[in-house]
Amino acid sequence: MRVFVAGGSGVMGRRLVPLLVARGHQVTATTTTAAKLPLLEELGAEGVVMDGLDGAAVGEAVAAARPDAIVHQMTALSAGHSGKPNPRRPDRFFAATNRLRSEGVDHLLAAAEATGVSHLVAQGHASMNGGRSGGWVKTEDDPLEVVEGTRAITHLEQAVVAAGGAVLRYGGFYGEGAHDDQVHLIRKRLVPIVGRGTGHVSWVHIDDAAEATVLAVERRAHGVFNIVDDEPAPVSEWLPYLAGCVGAKPPRRIPVWLARLLAGEMAVGALVEGRGFSNAKAKRDLGWRLRYPTWRQGFKEALA
Ligand SMILES: NC(=O)c1ccc[n+]([C@@H]2O[C@H](COP(=O)([O-])OP(=O)(O)OC[C@H]3O[C@@H](n4cnc5c(N)ncnc54)[C@H](OP(=O)(O)O)[C@@H]3O)[C@@H](O)[C@H]2O)c1
Repeated sequence: MRVFVAGGSGVMGRRLVPLLVARGHQVTATTTTAAKLPLLEELGAEGVVMDGLDGAAVGEAVAAARPDAIVHQMTALSAGHSGKPNPRRPDRFFAATNRLRSEGVDHLLAAAEATGVSHLVAQGHASMNGGRSGGWVKTEDDPLEVVEGTRAITHLEQAVVAAGGAVLRYGGFYGEGAHDDQVHLIRKRLVPIVGRGTGHVSWVHIDDAAEATVLAVERRAHGVFNIVDDEPAPVSEWLPYLAGCVGAKPPRRIPVWLARLLAGEMAVGALVEGRGFSNAKAKRDLGWRLRYPTWRQGFKEALA
């Protein structure tokens, strides 16, 4: 297949592009800067500079590549694109990513229609953001948490599924290139257990997530899929374990009221009430087999 990866130079793109190439696909991959074109070529792709928020540029890039499928991996979650995150102002840090998940996906879908591309796979999110009532582990049929900042991802999910595509709700990434910022904070003991540490996280190794993405492309998957490991877990379990794997001191414990003052409502809500996700549908419908079924094994191997 000819595959167009929008956002081929990010943490996911760098694992996904070589996997697609190894499976015999011809890949065009994008970056916003000419400085990263050699990286895309090293990964085995034809590199293209494209701003995903510029509809004309997206239309031209897709028309020139004439792909069979498009993969949307554009986010702006690095300091280079969105500066240093301030947990008390998440709206600022997520603003550019939210645009890529609303305007960006619309531009790709318009380009797909104009060029006759009938399948799109897009990055969604599944870690701590399940609806905050009922059980701790959610399926694709349960609603996501609804707050101001989630409007863009709701738009992305609805638009992609309506167009016959697939949304991959990835869990929290770890693995090569994906966890350095988090490990840095944990080593400095800046990620605490808040209250009783009840909020759940679903993790996924970046290579397992890339494998699921290739399967979604090859099988022309339709619908929403949770791409997470087998063991959603509360912060009280995975955080001390992760700290141990990287040789850090155990995390601090702080009360909810203090955490709210220090880190704001979004982070505290996630750390106390966040929900995890089930991967049963992705395993069943995509035939996905995980190399790291649990973060216990994955952290030990990837972070030690
Ligand atoms: N599920 C998860 O846990 C999850 C998901 C995503 C990211 N993250 C984390 O977030 C951090 C940053 O992720 P990242 O390294 O992938 O960087 P990123 O800054 O989020 O960039 C991702 C991709 O989007 C592209 N991009 C950014 N703005 C764009 C625009 N306006 N138009 C078109 N493309 C655009 C980037 O291209 P260029 O930078 O080459 O221009 C890159 O290819 C990492 O620590 C990662 O692990 C976590």
